[in-house]
Amino acid sequence: MGGPSSEREVSLRSGANVAAALREAGVPVVHEVEIAPDCSYAIPEGTQACFVALHGRFGEDGTVQGQLRSRGIPHTGSSAEASARAFDKSRSKPTFVAAGVPTAPYQLLRSAEEPVALPLPVVVKPVRQGSSVGVSRVFAADQLGPALAKAFALDPVALVETFIPGRELTVGIVGDTVLPVLQIEAPGDNYDYTTKYAPANAGGALHLVPAPLPEAIYARCQEVARAAFEALGCAGMGRVDIRLSPDGIPYVLELNNIPGLTSLSLLPDMARAAGWSYPELCLRILNLAH
Ligand SMILES: Nc1ncnc2c1ncn2[C@@H]1O[C@H](COP(=O)(O)OP(=O)(O)O)[C@@H](O)[C@H]1O
Ligand SMILES: [Mg+2]
Repeated sequence: MGGPSSEREVSLRSGANVAAALREAGVPVVHEVEIAPDCSYAIPEGTQACFVALHGRFGEDGTVQGQLRSRGIPHTGSSAEASARAFDKSRSKPTFVAAGVPTAPYQLLRSAEEPVALPLPVVVKPVRQGSSVGVSRVFAADQLGPALAKAFALDPVALVETFIPGRELTVGIVGDTVLPVLQIEAPGDNYDYTTKYAPANAGGALHLVPAPLPEAIYARCQEVARAAFEALGCAGMGRVDIRLSPDGIPYVLELNNIPGLTSLSLLPDMARAAGWSYPELCLRILNLAH
């Protein structure tokens, strides 16, 4: 937990919650390993498996998984390769397209001077970030420049994609189980960093699970989530973010290979709707370490 990314604080919360849950679930020895902002860390001698609760760069991009693998220590979640593919939207988007997973039309930009070919409204994002950091919705031409500047300040590659109106959904996967679909009700339909982490009674988002959707659309959302997971070669766990257009098409935005894991996060809420307590969810993820 921890690490160098903009999601360090969230990761520290995920890690502390997971450690407590694993102890509660009966795992006899649990050590909390904090990765410093300079990426240094020390894993205790004799460690049998690592539960990776590291969002953003260094964890979600597969770096730490590669290091653990080369040391022969099993870890939770996806391999280094699949993690890197999932984390970088410039790689996940073409993977979705090739696999027939519905995703919004997009364009990759390598400088703010390149012309944007997609009609407005669009969403601009840096290709390797999370928690909506650096993400802007662009409804008017004069918002494009500032949006690109924000994205390029965080990554040399920016993704521009068609804005999909409609509902915000997310679908968790743990091993062979596709969890109940969850609908997010964010104030003003703006699911940004603040609404992601504030409590629902203080401007945060509401989680509706199972999502109130017609049966066929609900099933389709679970199907595209599984397809996205498989197309990227993910394993263990993941959470697929979706925008459901008013005509009922689920567009996959991204797959989070290390989703938020505090007891109040989205994945634990979906697990509870499936009848798994939070400690049980954590234990299942740990048991899928490889
Ligand atoms: N194409 C889109 N249409 C509408 N909203 C979008 C689109 N892309 C992103 N968003 C909004 O921005 C949020 C963050 O985008 P996402 O692609 O999931 O990146 P992050 O890795 O930062 O979570 C989404 O949850 C959604 O609310
Ligand atoms: Mg997201």
